[in-house]
Formats: sequence, C-alpha cells, structure tokens
Amino acid sequence: MSNLLITNIHQLINVRKHPELLRGEALENLPVLNNAWVQIINGRIADFGTMDICPDATEVLDIKGGSILPCWCDSHTHAVFAASREDEFVDKLKGLSYAEIAAKGGGILNSANKLALTTEDVLYEQARKRILELIALGTGAIEIKSGYGLSLDAELKMLRVIRRLKEHLPIPVKATFLGAHAYPVLFKEDHESYIDLIINDMLPAIDREQLADYIDVFCEEGFFSQEETIRICEAGKRYGLKAKIHANQLNLSGGVQAGVAVNAVSVDHLETMDEATINILASSNTIGTLLPTAAYFLRMPFQPARSIIDAGAAVAIASDYNPGSSPSGNMNTVVSMSCIQMKMLPEEAINAATINGAFAMGLEKEVGSITVGKRANLIITKPIPSIAYIPYAFGSNLIDRVLVNGSEL
Ligand code: NIG
Ligand code: FE
Repeated sequence: MSNLLITNIHQLINVRKHPELLRGEALENLPVLNNAWVQIINGRIADFGTMDICPDATEVLDIKGGSILPCWCDSHTHAVFAASREDEFVDKLKGLSYAEIAAKGGGILNSANKLALTTEDVLYEQARKRILELIALGTGAIEIKSGYGLSLDAELKMLRVIRRLKEHLPIPVKATFLGAHAYPVLFKEDHESYIDLIINDMLPAIDREQLADYIDVFCEEGFFSQEETIRICEAGKRYGLKAKIHANQLNLSGGVQAGVAVNAVSVDHLETMDEATINILASSNTIGTLLPTAAYFLRMPFQPARSIIDAGAAVAIASDYNPGSSPSGNMNTVVSMSCIQMKMLPEEAINAATINGAFAMGLEKEVGSITVGKRANLIITKPIPSIAYIPYAFGSNLIDRVLVNGSEL
C-alpha cells in the first residue's frame, strides 16, 4: 500500500465534496483550502485538511508553499495524426486562402492522406509521445477523436491506436468516433453514400470491437448539415455512443440545435453564436466547450464566453489539439487565453478546464476536483501568490511537478 502525505500547500484548489456540473454563476465559485495537506493512498485522494491538524505519515512531501490543483481535463483533442502541417501554416502567412490550400491538397484531407500511409505502430508511438508531453504540462485526462481516417480501415486504425493509448497511458483516455469530419474525395459528389458508409459499415465495425465512447460530427457549411448531423448522431446513439459535436466554428451551422436535439454531452467550438443560439444552449443539458486556441490560430473572433456563461450555460474549455487549427495541446495556454481573450475569470477558467472538462468526458467521478476517492492526478505549482496568477503569468511555466495516480512519471 502506498501512502503519501503532501504538506505545506499554500492553496489546495478546487476542493469539492460532491462535484456538480457548473453552469452560469456557479462557474465563479472555486473552493479553496488555505495552508493545507492532502493524503494520497494507492494513487487516490484519501483525505485533506489544514496544517493546524496534520496527520503523521511515513512518506511526506513538503511542497513549501506551492499550490495544488487537479490536473487539466482536456475534453476535445485530435491528438492522433500522422504529420504536422506547418507548410500549410506558412502558406497561410503568405496569403493563400483556405480554398487555395485545400486545392494544394491541404486541410483535413491532407491529414487523411498522410494517415492512410502510416502504420498503427507509428501512429501509436507519435501520439504517445505527444500525450506524455501534455501530461508534463498538467493534463490528467484526455479525449481523442478519430476523423483523419475517413475510410472504414483508416477510421478503425485510428480508433485502435486510441484504444492502445487507453490501455498503456496512466491517465484516463476517452475515444470519439469522428468519421463525419469531412467528405473524402471519393464521395465529394455523393454525400449520401458516405453517410451510408458511416452508419451501416463504420458504426457496426466500431461496435464489434467496442472502440468508441462518443460520436462526433463536424456540423458546418460545406461539411455536414444540421439534418445530417442529427441522423449520424442518432445512429451512434443506437450503439450507445453519446454525441460531442463540432458546432458553430465558422458559421451559424445549426450544430448547437443539432446537439441539443440529440441530447449531446457537449457542443464544441462555438466561435459563431447569436443570442437565440446561446439561449438554446443555456436552457439545455449540453455543455458548451470553448476552444480558444483554435480561434487564435485561425485568427477568428474568440468565442463569446461571457454571453454564454451569463446566459446560464455550462461551459468547459479544451485544447482542440490538432495539426490544422490548434497545433498545441497546452491547457495552461488555453486557461490563460480564456481569461485574456474571452474575459473568463480565473476561477471560471480553472473550473471549466477541470471539473466541467471532466463532465464533458463522463469522468466526473474520477478526475477534475480535489475529492476523496478521485485519482490523485495533481498539478503542484511553484510558489505562486494567488489563483489569478495562473492565467496572468501566461508565458511562465508555473508547474513544479505533476502527479499521476499519486506518482511522478
Ligand atoms: O476542430 N473543425 C474541424 N476540425 C478540426 C480541425 C481539423 C484540421 O484542420 O485538421 C478542429 O478545428
Ligand atoms: Fe476539433
């Protein structure tokens, strides 16, 4: 039995007895214990309290005034991909349009072509390295999507890679099937046949191997319509897959309405919103997941976080880590950018990146808060003066060490 006592914690952040999904005003409430200790038994949080009454232990880690928060819960990534796309990035800097880049073979289809030529073993090794880097940056749970396959074989290959990551990484991993990410060239003029392939071939095959936890659709003009999104998500539901949808990134795509109609766990992106759409989201059970680094990288207007939260919606934030629109999975950056550019309060951003992110992956019983029984996936910071310092000091590495299941990797 391993038993570790961490002492002299300046602030133990996001301490909750009964974690609930936070919406609207509740997002501002970030419970903290000052001058605290936390005890970890067999990789899980066993107890915590204040230093005035501190238990004895054989193994003690005195963090001398550092603070502790639950690891980031990154509920939206595309961390399995075959190659980076910085050539496309440079083309964009030189003024090429999205259409010109697509014509040169860029975009999602570029990633799909490269992935088709890459073996499962290579994809696994690349993704494993990426995620180990993210763990060192404080990520303690992650969702990963397929969607660079776009054929039966390649989608299965991606999902098998994610399954291997689930089996071998020390943090919880959730798998999302995103066959409906783009229409492959073969089906450019025949969308119905591709949807048919997703529903009648891909979904049953994925179900046979139990490869996915969620289903996703890129609901966007030029990609999948609101009606197609609903149809694909309903098909996924029949195999027990709940929906997490790419919605309203570039246009008022109907993605939020589709997500609410299928009772999606989350609708993600939300760069393009109007009042009616915000109200539909706010009066639903669906989480709005904001991806500010994607807006930043594509130079799009940032998500209207303030209006979405003030309307009473439940909000999470995530990295969207992918080679095309967010080539960074650094959740510290996401938290900072949410405050700097979207005017979220530090407390709101930390809640959105921890407990609400956990809810957006169905992992709220495992991670996302300092709660007895949860995994001890913890960020130990260097000594910092306050919570607001975390998003404020955006360029500094404030992490002293990261514990996963109570241990350093
Ligand atoms: O979430 N918007 C759709 N999909 C990804 C980007 C895909 C890509 O360019 O590879 C996103 O931003
Ligand atoms: Fe995405």
